[in-house]
Amino acid sequence: MNQIELIRVLPKAELHVHIEGTFEPELMFAIAQRNQIEIPYQSVEEVRQAYNFHNLQSFLDIYYAGAAVLVVEQDFYDLAWAYFEKCAEDKVMHTEMFFDPQTHTDRGVAFATVISGLQRACDDAQTKLGISSHLIMCFLRHLSEEAAFETLEQALRFKDQIIAVGLDSSEVGHPPAKFERVFAKAREQGFLVVAHAGEEGPAEYVWEALDVLKVNRIDHGVRSEEDPKLMQRLIREKMPLTVCPLSNLKLCVVDDMAQHNIRRLLQQGVHVTVNSDDPSYFGGYMNDNFIAIAEALDLSHEEIKQLAKNSFEASFITDHEKQKWLKQIDALI
Ligand code: HPA
Ligand code: ZN
Repeated sequence: MNQIELIRVLPKAELHVHIEGTFEPELMFAIAQRNQIEIPYQSVEEVRQAYNFHNLQSFLDIYYAGAAVLVVEQDFYDLAWAYFEKCAEDKVMHTEMFFDPQTHTDRGVAFATVISGLQRACDDAQTKLGISSHLIMCFLRHLSEEAAFETLEQALRFKDQIIAVGLDSSEVGHPPAKFERVFAKAREQGFLVVAHAGEEGPAEYVWEALDVLKVNRIDHGVRSEEDPKLMQRLIREKMPLTVCPLSNLKLCVVDDMAQHNIRRLLQQGVHVTVNSDDPSYFGGYMNDNFIAIAEALDLSHEEIKQLAKNSFEASFITDHEKQKWLKQIDALI
């Protein structure tokens, strides 16, 4: 079995994917049309040509504009269902997807509309595709603490459907500590917590996510390597990093995939996982991300298997489920 064949047959869990970032231009056009919403593009090709980013903000501007065509429950269902079909192709057997309620509630779409469309797709994915999932609600960090509190309040009714809260959007200038009190309240209410940190922001933001927000995982975290003390802490605590290689390349966090640090992090004992982040915008889903690093960094079969195992270990499924997947991976070759 070569690297690519191994990647295709390995069961995987995806822990860092924004459902709004799986919005393919074809579906965006179809939904815009049925909702009679104008979008500033003439064709699918024109949309793809606009996906030329030089940093996180240049991506976010386009990403929020695309999400604006999602209005009714069926739109959210269709969006998530299209992603689950990609999961099935890539043997992603479990996924923990982010959604950004504020992107929708700020446009007058009800929280209940968003979550019921997503949940219905999650239920169908379990019954029709055998794929399990959890939902993670992210706060937009460029908005205020007060707005995050309001969003948390709205989420309480749906607590059983949301496993964790997260933090995304423009990182630099919006450190984790801005949301200390919101995250404390979320933890009190029983939510697990994650946060984007150390993507464009410094290692200091990763420390804050750990010490102030008390996260269960770090999203991205690739800049942790700049701080040896932080590296020791991540290794000692087996703190998962949900790394997104194609995203890092597209947003110029790395200049070249051959320079990506995921293999070095893995070799030093950091609990890294592979994820797609915003696959429609960054050029590929789970297996594309695996293949990109396997080829650029010449990963061994053992390293590829370790990354797949890490994904289940770092997930929020039960220990019993984790053992089931780890055994399946061990049984391959
Ligand atoms: N970083 C921050 N916010 C985001 C991202 C990301 O990679 N994707 C979608 N929202
Ligand atoms: Zn992300």
